[in-house]
Amino acid sequence: ALHAASPSSSSRINQKIDLDSPKVATIDKLFEGKGGGESKKVYCRCWQSNTFPLCNGAHVTHNKETGDNVGPLIVSVAAA
Ligand code: FES
Repeated sequence: ALHAASPSSSSRINQKIDLDSPKVATIDKLFEGKGGGESKKVYCRCWQSNTFPLCNGAHVTHNKETGDNVGPLIVSVAAA
């Protein structure tokens, strides 16, 4: 059987999200806003968010502590 790396391994990017899963993948849907307005979602790419897969701003602290420069993916759908 394959054994997952220890969650505390320093080579891991993901230290806390869904650690029992062999691969964390997410399917989400984005809908046009009411009245045809723009709708958007902000997705975490730093794996630090407590609302993963959505960004909660935790990347700010991570960047300050490590000198990293990561940030979210912002996806939007514009009115037609
Ligand atoms: Fe991870 Fe913002 S909290 S990118």
